[in-house]
Amino acid sequence: MPRVAVIHGPNLNMLGIRETEVYGHLNLEQINQRILERAKTLGLEVRITQSNHEGEIIEAIHESLQWADALIINPGAYTHYSIAIRDAITAVRLPTVEVHLSNIHAREEFRRQSVTASVVHGIISGFGVMSYLMALDAVKFILEESRR
Ligand code: DQA
Repeated sequence: MPRVAVIHGPNLNMLGIRETEVYGHLNLEQINQRILERAKTLGLEVRITQSNHEGEIIEAIHESLQWADALIINPGAYTHYSIAIRDAITAVRLPTVEVHLSNIHAREEFRRQSVTASVVHGIISGFGVMSYLMALDAVKFILEESRR
């Protein structure tokens, strides 16, 4: 079964409480539940982590190399300025899908830039929990195509 590491970045543990008009009413546990259900349907094995610390996210990316075939990451605000997370994604060379609950291009100017965007396979932004579910579909497709 293809293995996918899902990494949630800073402040995503606050979902359900935090800016619900932007991020919706589901909390992280409920989002993770939806991810696990969808992964089961798609025949993907998933491991999910969340961290508020840049170094821990970098380590989670490095560790995914020992286990995962692909990566799904929502780097939260680090998206907009963490060259270190960008370098970690580049280092592991796993097919990676970047995810955002909100449409980062429809928000403040500083959110419109993603420093990770150019090193990932693609970005899904603006569909709430569905962004993660579409990322699972994308990852499955990418892995299947690479085996053809
Ligand atoms: C986010 C968008 C980021 O700009 C923000 O800092 C987040 C969440 C999203 O999922 O929409 O923490 O990554």
